[in-house]
Amino acid sequence: MTDVIDLGEFGDAFRRDPHPVYARLRELGPVHRVRLPPPDAHHETWLVVGYEEARAALADPRLAKDGSRIGVTFLDEELIGRHLLVTDPPQHTRLRALVSRAFTVRRVEELRPRIRRITDGLLDAMLPRGRADLVESFAHPLPITVICELLGVPEVDRAEFRRMSTEAVAPTSAESEYDAFVRLAAYLTGLIEDKRCAGPGGDLLGDLIRTAGEDGDRLSPRELRGMAFLLLIAGHETTVNLVSSAVLTLLRHPGQLAAVRADPGLVDAAVEETLRHEGPVENATYRYAAQPLEIGGTPIEKGDSVLVGLTAADRDPHRFPGPDRFDIHRDTRGHLAFGHGVHYCLGAPLARLEARTAIRTLLDRAPDLALDGPPGDWLPGVLMRGVRSLPVRW
Ligand code: HEM
Repeated sequence: MTDVIDLGEFGDAFRRDPHPVYARLRELGPVHRVRLPPPDAHHETWLVVGYEEARAALADPRLAKDGSRIGVTFLDEELIGRHLLVTDPPQHTRLRALVSRAFTVRRVEELRPRIRRITDGLLDAMLPRGRADLVESFAHPLPITVICELLGVPEVDRAEFRRMSTEAVAPTSAESEYDAFVRLAAYLTGLIEDKRCAGPGGDLLGDLIRTAGEDGDRLSPRELRGMAFLLLIAGHETTVNLVSSAVLTLLRHPGQLAAVRADPGLVDAAVEETLRHEGPVENATYRYAAQPLEIGGTPIEKGDSVLVGLTAADRDPHRFPGPDRFDIHRDTRGHLAFGHGVHYCLGAPLARLEARTAIRTLLDRAPDLALDGPPGDWLPGVLMRGVRSLPVRW
């Protein structure tokens, strides 16, 4: 019998700072059977915490994303529609081909001036106030404005969308999670209907509705809803946490903050080290063993679910020496914050551009930036890593 480690036993301390627990698990071995903390406390799964094993698992085709191959349906797929993170090749290859062109480094680079203008506009509104919650005033509005503009989501809808979206990725209870998915499904159906009626608008969602792929391929209505869901949610919830964690960590490391201020060319390195040290996605989304396999010598049975620990892997001392140390001068190459393999983050170039622009502009325009009290609660659940609020003054 495999020992099951109950992550719920570590209580709230695990939510605030899971790294010591992951470090202890890594010392015991690269793969563990765990029971998740609330609100997923009913769920047992395999958790991969070693870097090499995590990287291999992310690219292992025997670990399926499409739960229907072993009779599992996810809430988002059931209530909203199929999307990239619940499909495997060849369906995944087909869906990804329909959107990948919009997110290449070159296409994203064209957004640079607009991202800079949105960033400046947010700071114009925030800076005269002298103090603010950085999440509310800056880290959240920036990526949600960018992704909503890109997709063509009207401004009026964004506050309500934010509530549903955060509850879907970091639910406070199973009921509220279900409710958020039901409301998101209704919201996206309405949004797509409105776009269909509105005619061409030059945005990505409109393009996806109207245009066919090179081989005449089109998204079905459920695929369209799934795609809109994934792009909107993955396109901002994560970047919020990258910006707020980067600012929080830099403010807690004055020496490195001073180095970045003295040489803004180091902003890119600070963003990469934040991704490695406090990555916004704590664990990758579920994978399922489509056939029996071994990970790090541990037998996994067909149908078992597997969580790949991205933040755990990125603090593996065999890969990143002194992993708990935040060090903007270290070699961060190979970090797994954006995943690995065919599901590697589609939005990585966009996320990097937004975070680099945000940090560079903020440090430039708020030279006396400081913490204004402790940060808010860390998000619940095992998917996202970030704080709900970050009080700062300048
Ligand atoms: C700092 C910000 C971000 C982080 C840390 C991040 C992280 C990740 C990770 C770890 C995955 C793989 C999940 C898995 O294999 O289970 C992923 C996939 C994905 N991300 Fe991101 N992401 C970020 C920003 C974005 C943005 C801005 C977009 C906007 C388009 C985006 C869109 C996607 C999509 C569509 C996928 C699914 C790709 C596929 O299955 O082929 N992400 N992201």
